[in-house]
Amino acid sequence: MSLRTTTPSAGYVEDVAPGRGVLPPRARYASDAARLSLNGDWRFRLSPAAGAEDDSFAAPGYDAGAWATVAVPGHWVLQGHGAPVYTNHLYPFPVDPPRVPTENPTGDHLRPFDLPDGWPDTGDAVLRFDGVESCARVWLNGTELGEFKGSRLPHEFAVGHLLRPAGNVLAVRVHQWSAGSYLEDQDQWWLPGIFRDVTLLHRPADGVRDFFVHASYDHRTGEGTLRVDSDVPGRVTVPELSVDVATGEPVTVAVEPWTAETPRLYDGVLATGGERVALRVGFRTVALEDGLIKVNGRPVLFKGVNRHEWHPGRGRALDVETMRADVLLMKRHNVNAVRTSHYPPHPAFLDLCDAYGLWVVDECDLETHGFVGQSWRDNPCDDDRWTPALLDRAARMVERDKNHPSVVIWSLGNEAGTGRGLTAMAEWIHGRDASRPVHYEGDAGCRDTDVYARMYAPHAEVERIGRGLDGGTRRRRRLPFILCEYGHAMGNGPGGLADYQRIFEAYDRLQGGFVWEWIDHGIRHPELGYAYGGDFGEELHDGNFVCDGLVFPDRTPSPGLTEYKKVIEPVRIEGDGTAGTVRVTNAHDFADLSALAFEWSRQVDGETAESGPLPVPPLAPGESADVKLPAPPDAPAGAETQWTVRAVLAEDTPWGERGHPVAWAQLPVARRRPPAPAAGEPPAVDGPLVRLGPAVFDARTGALRGVGGVEVTSPRLDVWRAPTDNDNGAPWQPDARLGPRWRKLGLHRMRHRLDAVEVGADALAVRTRVAPAGAEVGLRTVYRWTADGARLRLSVSVTPEGDWPLPLPRLGVRFGLAAADRVTWFGGGPGEAYPDTRSASMLGRWHATVDALQTPYVRPQENGARADVRWVELGGLRVEGDPEFWFTARRWTTEQLDAAGHLTDLVPGETVWVNLDHGQMGIGSQSCGPGVLPQYHLHARPATFSFVFTELGAGPA
Ligand code: GAL
Repeated sequence: MSLRTTTPSAGYVEDVAPGRGVLPPRARYASDAARLSLNGDWRFRLSPAAGAEDDSFAAPGYDAGAWATVAVPGHWVLQGHGAPVYTNHLYPFPVDPPRVPTENPTGDHLRPFDLPDGWPDTGDAVLRFDGVESCARVWLNGTELGEFKGSRLPHEFAVGHLLRPAGNVLAVRVHQWSAGSYLEDQDQWWLPGIFRDVTLLHRPADGVRDFFVHASYDHRTGEGTLRVDSDVPGRVTVPELSVDVATGEPVTVAVEPWTAETPRLYDGVLATGGERVALRVGFRTVALEDGLIKVNGRPVLFKGVNRHEWHPGRGRALDVETMRADVLLMKRHNVNAVRTSHYPPHPAFLDLCDAYGLWVVDECDLETHGFVGQSWRDNPCDDDRWTPALLDRAARMVERDKNHPSVVIWSLGNEAGTGRGLTAMAEWIHGRDASRPVHYEGDAGCRDTDVYARMYAPHAEVERIGRGLDGGTRRRRRLPFILCEYGHAMGNGPGGLADYQRIFEAYDRLQGGFVWEWIDHGIRHPELGYAYGGDFGEELHDGNFVCDGLVFPDRTPSPGLTEYKKVIEPVRIEGDGTAGTVRVTNAHDFADLSALAFEWSRQVDGETAESGPLPVPPLAPGESADVKLPAPPDAPAGAETQWTVRAVLAEDTPWGERGHPVAWAQLPVARRRPPAPAAGEPPAVDGPLVRLGPAVFDARTGALRGVGGVEVTSPRLDVWRAPTDNDNGAPWQPDARLGPRWRKLGLHRMRHRLDAVEVGADALAVRTRVAPAGAEVGLRTVYRWTADGARLRLSVSVTPEGDWPLPLPRLGVRFGLAAADRVTWFGGGPGEAYPDTRSASMLGRWHATVDALQTPYVRPQENGARADVRWVELGGLRVEGDPEFWFTARRWTTEQLDAAGHLTDLVPGETVWVNLDHGQMGIGSQSCGPGVLPQYHLHARPATFSFVFTELGAGPA
């Protein structure tokens, strides 16, 4: 006899069907109908498996007094129950669709509520969940309503017949894993919970149900046509346009169009017998014409970012102010577009995009990337059994978001392979909304899509696509191109953004791209600062690949965002500083320049000597003008001079204050003169010491001990940097990854062999060979010290020996100072820069503390270099370079930086370590994309560079 027990898991959890008992999807809107937010503290009980507890908790009268409490919206794993898990595309459970593990954390949630005073006693009511990960079963007052999957999509139940004036109990059972999890394999933390709002909506008799606002714009006539199709007939009014029409009836009026640059919205009302709905109408027409995506007749250049929803404490449970912070930061950094990677965002985010102006690629909650590991076998996107779930997801996105003017493209999802399910989604979307193109990057032949999209394509390939030399299907070749992901902003970087932008701007077919990604998904952690994959003991994880944003977890802009802002600025300012004019080009797609004021200033040796307004005509998009600069007065002989021209907001706008900088350029006038040589003093041996000008050396080793009263740890050649995430590269690029190859060669453990200390008539020369153990390559390095009275000059000559197989991380010297805090420099700033991330580095005089020079990448790595430095003062010394140099200072060594896993591992030591670099290797984007472009490689080649050290405060001898 065989024994058979029933499966402990509830059947619906592993059912591929999207749900049961749920209302059809519809538009999201605000109306005068009563509503009750059910957000707040809920009773909570966590159990280890889907079927571990029976459902008696949902029955009226259940005593949950002993349960814990969690905040809704929220994720229980961020509130002390269980732990988050991070994987990129690996499913953190065995791949056996639609089965999920028996260990399936399940959170039972209870929320008692009374109806507020004045809640109407006629009509119906709907209970809405805006987002629950990943599967929920719902009861109200003991009656089961149904269950659903589709974590970042809304689900509604009709509940009017169950409501009582007081003592209602809403019970929700949430399973972390479900069949739906197979469709939600996005690169992010797995965070179960009721993480978006829960709302009870009164539904008046004769209320609005669903409606579709069609608001187009004809750029030839300047007229907009509005038609609101509504399930329930009513009237549409837009007072500002004197529009008052029946639903379903088109009306054409002169309007100002909506664009992301000029987000003109008209307030209106849709009124049925029982309800008034607020409309915010933006008139615009998106069309595919001449192989281009055009809005209102003009092609658009997307300067976008990929945005995941993130908050370092609350995960994907975002409040409106956090969403607004994202939108404001984007607008202030010249970003004009967002791909809602990889799911529809909280609906309030789209309201903000409408209001402030951002183009949105609204992406469906679909990714099945983990199937790539098995050659896409069993991919739900090519399995008819799953198609209803895919269609349900498409419909829930389109129906919810269709009335947003900011949404200009629908995206089927991300990295979900190919298959009939995706085709079915595209067909359904095209049928439901012909007014927007459909995007999906995984559709290489563009069978189902209207845009050719790629991710991380190298510059050269993008250029070929721009030139139409890329091949592909006939259909694809006629389509516009976007890079839906590029510029992997993990850690220090991304490099090469300016090079991409130049290519985008050179070819019409290239309609821009979306940097990956907006924010680091670090989780605030008491010991680690910010946690990433593996920090919660996950058995399978992808480390800090989850921290790859343009802003840090707390939304502080990283240097990558500053760089991007400069690269995509909507005004180009160019010219030859000596010519007396500057060429200004309006690089907007729609707006003229009337919102901007221009200013000039003139710097002498980095300090602003004069400034004033620069009158620039309100150029139309694409227009240029040559604008005269004032006649410069004579600058002091030998001074370095330049113009700085800025475009700033002329008035306060909803997203930025008057004076907010939008674009700038610097035009050199008189170039720098290199520092005068410091020579003439003879070195003198004094017992164990050598004295030379202001300096003292160890006679045996030739090591510098001090300059005047300033003690130093002697400069030595340094080629190592703590590899950046982009140096380390992605695991699937084994041959190209520089970080591991540098380490294999031993560049992190260079040995310095002393060959000679030569005390000559006018110089102290120290001859060395710097090389890693186990290799024949080396760098012959000669330090030649000379001095005049108060100034000490170090000239470093480097001659590579052997066959160097790799570019160097850096080439320069490192020395230590016993004490240093405040730093002043004349060079690029205020932020860090590397050879391919230096667009935003502005030449000037800058001040910072050593601590403020550090860029707090969540996983510590090389950071903080300042470019084009003429001189720097710190720790009682002034260092002038010939030629200009890269400067870095930190309170830990490169080796300590390299060894650190989290910011809290970095403990300041006694010494400030200063790098003066002749060269730095570029940064690139290899943590997911292409590496450093050849022009930014630092090759091991013969080099000579020098520095003049002076003790500050010591007068000339
Ligand atoms: C892409 C993917 C993103 C993210 C990125 C790397 O392939 O679409 O979700 O994983 O790579 O950070």
